[in-house]
Amino acid sequence: MKVTEGAIKWAPWIPHDPTKNVKQLAFLMYTGQEALYGGAAGGGKSDALLMAALQYTDVPGYSALLLRRTYPELAKSDGLIPRSIEWLNGKGPDWHETKKLWQFPSGARLEFGHLMRTNDMYRYQSAEYNFIGFDELTTFEEDQYRYMFSRLRRLESSDVPLRMRAGSNPGGIGHDWVSQRFLVEGPASGRLFIPANLDDNPFLDKESYEHSLNELDPTTRRQLRYGDWNARRRGAMFQRSWFPIVAEPPEKVDRRIRFWDLASTEPGRRNKNPDWTVGALVSLWNGVWYIEDIVRLQQSPGKVEAMVSKVAKQDGMTSIRMEQEPGASGVAVIDSYATRVLVGHDFKGVPMRGDKLIRAKPLASAAELGKVRLVSAPWNNTFVDELESVPGNHDDQMDAVSAAMSVIRPSTGFYDFHQGTESVMADLELLEAERRERQIGQVRGRVETKQYAMTEIF
Ligand SMILES: Nc1ncnc2c1ncn2[C@@H]1O[C@H](COP(=O)(O)OP(=O)(O)OP(=O)(O)O)[C@@H](O)[C@H]1O
Ligand SMILES: [Mg+2]
Repeated sequence: MKVTEGAIKWAPWIPHDPTKNVKQLAFLMYTGQEALYGGAAGGGKSDALLMAALQYTDVPGYSALLLRRTYPELAKSDGLIPRSIEWLNGKGPDWHETKKLWQFPSGARLEFGHLMRTNDMYRYQSAEYNFIGFDELTTFEEDQYRYMFSRLRRLESSDVPLRMRAGSNPGGIGHDWVSQRFLVEGPASGRLFIPANLDDNPFLDKESYEHSLNELDPTTRRQLRYGDWNARRRGAMFQRSWFPIVAEPPEKVDRRIRFWDLASTEPGRRNKNPDWTVGALVSLWNGVWYIEDIVRLQQSPGKVEAMVSKVAKQDGMTSIRMEQEPGASGVAVIDSYATRVLVGHDFKGVPMRGDKLIRAKPLASAAELGKVRLVSAPWNNTFVDELESVPGNHDDQMDAVSAAMSVIRPSTGFYDFHQGTESVMADLELLEAERRERQIGQVRGRVETKQYAMTEIF
């Protein structure tokens, strides 16, 4: 799943310069089957979808479909239909009002449609498209989205890529399946997720828009301003009923880890309730995760060391891992534990990256699927209380358990996700750097970019 620099397929009726927005550029360059441009409102997602739909309209027989959940959303003044009319009117293509489609001089077609009722998808039963774009994907049902893959086809001789593309803000009825499909499963399944950010779009009056976004409740604001897929209504991420309690840990396990997440501060006059140091003992047996024990304390580093040492003795031969903070001080802490506190144990530091809530997604999905058990003990309730209030004050237990899971089985953990995202983000950064280079001191730069694109393709 690589987004690389190269010729970008272009069409003369696209009025924008996508090199102004590196995320849009990546979205347009990507020729893999599935991609979501997802994030902040105003990031340029709908325009990117319309541009993508228009990319191959020089090819005879090319057919594209752009969908919104309802027809009024397509037709409203800033909807996709009026936008297409603004872009295409008088430039060659013909608009068929009754069929809601553009016919291009090459014979290519761009159609607009909706799937208001669940079964509206069957109206497309005999149609076939090379491009299907869903705007505001989280307003659709998963079945509708998946069904439309059956309409994604091409003629044998054609080299037009088959593209399923979507743009969406987080939130909405489809938030869960969309974020599961693209953010959690995406990297392993070859689905590209491009995070949209308001700051990417230089064409928006950011200040006044930001002002209106300030009126929103904090969750919706985080979703729409920052494109934050983890911002959820309080308590929506985990449910108590997903954590059945069992009397005993399993007799046999595939692997067992004690994972320590050290708090950086101890309680003091300034901060009476800082993060907790948490040690989670987690095992995996037969596809089921067992949270066997949780130790939790808000104490000075000396007392934490004493506890880590005591727990290691209780746990016997169990492997111990500990979150390694960035930089030299992180290395020093791990080194000090390895050489003084945990001598003789299988012990390592593990650097952690990214957002805690994203790291916790495998825990949430496994729990929802009934694949997590708590071993009965007095910590059970405080643990589930914390999970139920995520995102809330504290999430240290959740984080220690997610980290243990990712050490035991990295492919279900956040490492994959982050490696995937990082490689895309690294590519995006590269594109951004190249874009800047093209612009430096050159008024001609922008014009050339366009000419390059046009001559390359037509
Ligand atoms: N490459 C571009 N060049 C010029 N203008 C652009 C470009 N991309 C987006 N815009 C303009 O920026 C504004 C916001 O873009 P757009 O509507 O595509 O964002 P969005 O992410 O779909 O927003 P929302 O989440 O509200 O649906 C629009 O007026 C659009 O025409
Ligand atoms: Mg939009």
